[in-house]
Amino acid sequence: MVELEIMEEIETIGVLTSGGDSPGMNAAIRATVRTALAKGLKVKGIKKGWQGLLNEEIFEMEKHHVSDIIQRGGTVLGTARCPEFIQPEGQIKAAEICRRHQIDAIVAIGGDGTYRGALDLVRQGVVAICIPATIDLDIASTDYTIGFDTAINTAMEAIDKVRDTSSSHERCSIIEVMGRDAGYIALWCGVANGAEDILLPEHYDYYEQPLINNIIANRKTGKKHHIIINAEGIGHSDAMARRIEAATGLETRATILGYMQRGGNPTCKDRYYASVMGSKAIELLCEGKINRVVVYRNGQFDDEDITVALGMKKKIDDYEVEVSRLLSL
Ligand code: F6P
Repeated sequence: MVELEIMEEIETIGVLTSGGDSPGMNAAIRATVRTALAKGLKVKGIKKGWQGLLNEEIFEMEKHHVSDIIQRGGTVLGTARCPEFIQPEGQIKAAEICRRHQIDAIVAIGGDGTYRGALDLVRQGVVAICIPATIDLDIASTDYTIGFDTAINTAMEAIDKVRDTSSSHERCSIIEVMGRDAGYIALWCGVANGAEDILLPEHYDYYEQPLINNIIANRKTGKKHHIIINAEGIGHSDAMARRIEAATGLETRATILGYMQRGGNPTCKDRYYASVMGSKAIELLCEGKINRVVVYRNGQFDDEDITVALGMKKKIDDYEVEVSRLLSL
């Protein structure tokens, strides 16, 4: 009942992308804008995430603003990380700006940092709906996050290329992939690229002797390369390469894939999920469901309360880790 009363007041939505960009964000913006316009809502685009909201970088969005963007990487709205928004003063100011611009609800596209920002705004009386978009796949409430598929495919192709030259030179290669706290990209690429070792921030104990033993043992069986996928959260790939080379006597090189993993044209999967999730965000508002996050769980698009979603924990599946170890023997 309360939800419906609030809904009756929603005439204008604001849409923003925040935190690290991810391929497919544009498809999510497009779906959000098109669905909102189709439902008779006004749409205001907010540039550069929470920072842009505080700077009042706000403009009215029409259909043409989202033409020709579904295939593009990055985000046409821009994004930023915003320390000012972490402070209560920033949140109060942001809510005032929303009211002044007659923004009744914000659709925030991003990772869990974006969700926390949205919840801060909710506490200031602004309605919010979040859409999960991060290459890291580390949002607990959902099985899928927009951008993950593109990122792992970009990384996988790059790792295949490093593997070619690694074999030719009979080297050991450490390839560092993104993921500060979460090892999903490392795990998926490690398995898909047939890596000999996969280092996940969730499991790594910084003890290198097993790695060294593995490299020496594999070389004795005639393996021409040794691929180690290292997650960004563990890092120090260059120093690790130097230590491994000294300990094994094998030429060892580090390659840090870095931001290339966040760019590029989104895959079909990312465009599709982003499109459905963007549309769903507006459907939720139209059904009077507020302060929710869009999720994909158990094979279905669904939604969850934003506070509940932020309280959830996600953990890499032990069985998948076990499989990855078995296959890298
Ligand atoms: O967006 C996720 C992510 O790419 C992480 O994998 C990485 O740790 C982080 O963002 C890097 O953030 P920044 O763009 O601030 O360097």
